[in-house]
Amino acid sequence: MSNHSIMDLYTDLANNPDKDFGWDTGLQNARNHGYKEEWIESIPDEIWRYCAAVGNPFNAGEFHEGESILDIGCGAGIDLCVASLLAGKNGNVFGVDITPAMVERSRQNANLAGMSNITVYESSIEELPLSDCVVNTVISNGAINLATSKEAVFSEIYRVLSHGGRLFFSDMIKDETNPEASCCAKESWANCVAGTLKSDELIQLLTNAGFVDTRITDTNHYKTSASTIGATFSARKI
Ligand SMILES: C[S@@+](CC[C@H](N)C(=O)[O-])C[C@H]1O[C@@H](n2cnc3c(N)ncnc32)[C@H](O)[C@@H]1O
Repeated sequence: MSNHSIMDLYTDLANNPDKDFGWDTGLQNARNHGYKEEWIESIPDEIWRYCAAVGNPFNAGEFHEGESILDIGCGAGIDLCVASLLAGKNGNVFGVDITPAMVERSRQNANLAGMSNITVYESSIEELPLSDCVVNTVISNGAINLATSKEAVFSEIYRVLSHGGRLFFSDMIKDETNPEASCCAKESWANCVAGTLKSDELIQLLTNAGFVDTRITDTNHYKTSASTIGATFSARKI
């Protein structure tokens, strides 16, 4: 899968957030995933327009004031803003995205929200631009399925997490209740379909990377095709 098609699609989303891409976006999407009203009130409406969340990683565990949080595949920065609210003024929030227009949009959105503890890097999540053991928590929302090497992504997350650090991510996975769908569907990688794995395959990859307490915390209503569903996972570095 070329990063080119991914960048084309997500450049379009960064520039045209109200366009119909065939999957849910925007404020109603955030509400459908249970994003809290207090976050919705604290973050400008303009920013919620870009919400392409496929689940709610903030429901998967506790976040603490003063911690450092990394969002991989941060898109336009909605989850960066939520993370900034949770980490508070003494915390640090980092974002990584491969699409230059998304990096620019997330920096603009962080400024618009007045959140000065957010730093965004343009990079692949398969090669994170952070040193070893520097973040307490890694989050992600709808991005890991887009990476060619999930092994590289989980190994990089493990490397940058501090000891005892946590990973909470939402992503599209194969819908095993509807196995026939994938044989006939026109599968797109950039639209979060062709790069998806089964939940057991993701848990095995997390375990191979060294994570413990790996589990799927929920599945949800989100669809990118008949053969996929949204799900959320949690894991911990020893
Ligand atoms: C479906 S969007 C989700 C954006 C955001 N997390 C949200 O919830 O709104 C997926 C994002 O992952 C980014 N992405 C895809 N592949 C990537 C990679 N290999 N490295 C870094 N970012 C990537 C895309 O540029 C896009 O912004």
